[in-house]
Amino acid sequence: MSAFQQRVFSGVQPTGNLHLGNYLGAIQKFVDLQDNYDCMYCVVDMHAITVWQDPNELRDNIREVTAAFLAAGIDAKKHIVFNQSRVPQHAELAWVFNCVARMGWLNRMTQFKEKAGKDRENASVGLFAYPALMAADILVYRGTHVPVGDDQKQHLELARDIAQKFNNDFADSIAANGHADGFFPLPEPLITGPATRVMSLRDGSKKMSKSDASDLSRINLRDDAEQIAAKIRKARTDPEPLPSEAKGLEGRREADNLVGIYAALSGDSRDKVLSEFGGGQFSSFKQALADLCIEKLAPITSEMRRMQADTAYIDSVLEDGGVRARELAQGTMDQVKDIIGLLR
Ligand code: AMP
Ligand code: TRP
Repeated sequence: MSAFQQRVFSGVQPTGNLHLGNYLGAIQKFVDLQDNYDCMYCVVDMHAITVWQDPNELRDNIREVTAAFLAAGIDAKKHIVFNQSRVPQHAELAWVFNCVARMGWLNRMTQFKEKAGKDRENASVGLFAYPALMAADILVYRGTHVPVGDDQKQHLELARDIAQKFNNDFADSIAANGHADGFFPLPEPLITGPATRVMSLRDGSKKMSKSDASDLSRINLRDDAEQIAAKIRKARTDPEPLPSEAKGLEGRREADNLVGIYAALSGDSRDKVLSEFGGGQFSSFKQALADLCIEKLAPITSEMRRMQADTAYIDSVLEDGGVRARELAQGTMDQVKDIIGLLR
């Protein structure tokens, strides 16, 4: 893959209730990658509308995700922060990818099955085609590295399949247009660390999610210190004391989840966390976890609130990012048109 310039791309949907899973699985990593890569972080509003959104809430949520990016420490001047719908080339390339991806590939997507539920006939066409748009998001910048939570692994594999099929289907034309190693890179998922799948605080078999009916199931980036402490105190556990090594967490989903959260927030491994808390009761561990969570999240939450009050500033960041993103995306789309034989 050395032929491709390295570039990080990732997206978060503006669908409300940003939570600790979004932070640990995605946003915290976005921040860390900035030192070593050129990064693009996108508020994927066109993905959000695959299910109906209230227009006023959608606007607020787009600004809220942007504020979370900035408050967490993403540098929108060095990197690019924007909302997807400002760059029409995402939709344009997605159409091309709809024609590359196969029905059978999309039929296998577990997220579609989960989100569409029993009433599949009534799901939007956009919800079904969603992974082709996601592939376009990344590949319209020829992105090479994609930090995401574990739930996006299958979509990333599909993006690689689409890139590969495009490279194969148009191999001669791609070579004739001067690309020796294919046109699209095969984007690599970055799914690393102790919290790639943060689980619900109420049920260790379900992932922490924006749409869970129980607010106690998740820690929202909007929560204040008291709410965080109360939710962790009420988090489900089992009656055993904590083990002294990560191996002892096997089969203990709730304990594993809380230890994983602690590890991700502190930057340590599960083993390291357990060397301190192993043998102890959950009550004292929960107290330490709540303190750590508040220490890490409170500055982000307050900065987010401050920024959200200044919508003009947030909108100017998105506009500036949109202009820079559009320029890159247009370059790719021009080449795609040449490769597939569309006149421009
Ligand atoms: P979404 O809210 O679905 O747009 O997700 C935004 C990012 O957060 C994606 O990279 C997801 O994989 C990640 N994410 C969402 N929920 C979780 C979770 N419970 N644990 C870890 N990562 C998550
Ligand atoms: N599908 C992702 C999610 O639900 C969001 C997303 C859209 C994304 N486009 C992307 C993530 C491109 C990474 C890269 O979480």
